[in-house]
Amino acid sequence: MKQRIMSGMRPTGKLHLGHYLGVIDNWVKLQDDYECFYQVADWHALTTKYDKTQTLRQDVIDVVSDWLACGIDPEKSTVYVQSLVPETAELHIYLSMITPQNWVERDPTLKDMAKILKSKEGMGTQVNYGLMGYPVLMTADILLFNADFVPVGIDQVAHVELSRDIARRFNNVYNTEFFKEPQPKLNNCSLICGLDGNKMGKSFNNDIKISDTEEDTAKKVMTAITDRSRIRRDDPGHPDDCEVVYKYWKIFGTNEEVETVCSECKAGTRGCADCKRQLGAKINKRMHEIRQRRKYYEDNPEVVEKIIREGSEKARLEAQKNIAKIRKLVKMY
Ligand code: TRP
Ligand code: SF4
Repeated sequence: MKQRIMSGMRPTGKLHLGHYLGVIDNWVKLQDDYECFYQVADWHALTTKYDKTQTLRQDVIDVVSDWLACGIDPEKSTVYVQSLVPETAELHIYLSMITPQNWVERDPTLKDMAKILKSKEGMGTQVNYGLMGYPVLMTADILLFNADFVPVGIDQVAHVELSRDIARRFNNVYNTEFFKEPQPKLNNCSLICGLDGNKMGKSFNNDIKISDTEEDTAKKVMTAITDRSRIRRDDPGHPDDCEVVYKYWKIFGTNEEVETVCSECKAGTRGCADCKRQLGAKINKRMHEIRQRRKYYEDNPEVVEKIIREGSEKARLEAQKNIAKIRKLVKMY
C-alpha cells in the first residue's frame, strides 16, 4: 500500500512561478510514489474573502488548469474542491471541540494573517470566527484522508505541526489510534523571489504567471532589479549583489551558464539588459510546454470542469468511508 499525501492551495486565481517551483513541481514528482489528494481550498478562501466571491468559481478553474498544465495527472492523483467534499465541514466541527483556543491563537501564520487583515479595510480590526478556525479546517482536510505527508511551502509548516497536535489530542480524547500524525514535507528548491526582490505575490505586482505569454514574461524580466551599484555597461558587476536576476539564473540556468554569467558580469563584459533578455528567453523555454498545455485547458474549460467533478466524487467516496468511522469514535447518533 502506498503512503498517502494530501495538500491544498487556496483559489487565488492564476498561479505564478513561485507556486510552480515552490509547491506544484514537488507535487508532480510525488505522484508516482504516493497516493495523492490535491485540493483547492475554497472554504479557506472564504475566511478572508467571504465578501469577494464573484471570481471564486473562475479562480478555482484557473488554479486547477495551472496544476494540470504543470503535470498534475488526474489519472494518478485525486484533484478535488474542498466544498464538494462537505464531510470536511463535519470533521471540522468535531476537531473544533477538542482544540484548545490558545492553540489556534498562538499559530504564527494565523497571527500574520490577522495582522494583514487588521491593516485593511472592511471588517476593520475584527478577525472573524472562521479565520480563527483556519488551521483547524486545514487539519480536517488532512485528517479526513489520514494523510502521512503534507507537502507545503515553509509558510504552512506551522499549520501542519498544529494538525499533528490535534490528531494526537483526538486520539487521546476518544481513546483511539485512528488518526495518523501527518508530517510536513518540504521540498529542497530555493524560494524564488519576486521581480523587485520581495516575496513573489500576486498582490505585490512582482510575479511572473505560469500562464503569462512569452512577450509578457520577457517584458517583466526586463523590469527586474539588478546590481544597483552598476551604472555603465562595462562597470564590473557584483553577481552576489544582483538579488533577482542572478538568483533567477541559478534557478533556470545550467551550472555552466551560471558560471558564464558570473564571470562576464564581474569582468564588465556583460550588460544587464542583455543578461535579462537572455534570462527571459531561458524562462520562456522552460515554461514552453507547460504554457501550451495551459492554453489547451483555457480553451477547453469543460475538460477542467469534468476533472474537478470526477476528482471530487472520488475524494468524497473516500471521505464518506472515513467520516462514518469518525462518527462512531465520537459516539454520534
Ligand atoms: N492553507 C493552505 C495555503 O494557504 C491551503 C490548504 C488548505 C492546505 N488545506 C490544506 C495545505 C491542507 C495543505 C493541506 O496554501
Ligand atoms: Fe545582474 Fe546580469 Fe547585470 Fe550582472 S550582468 S548585475 S548578473 S543582471
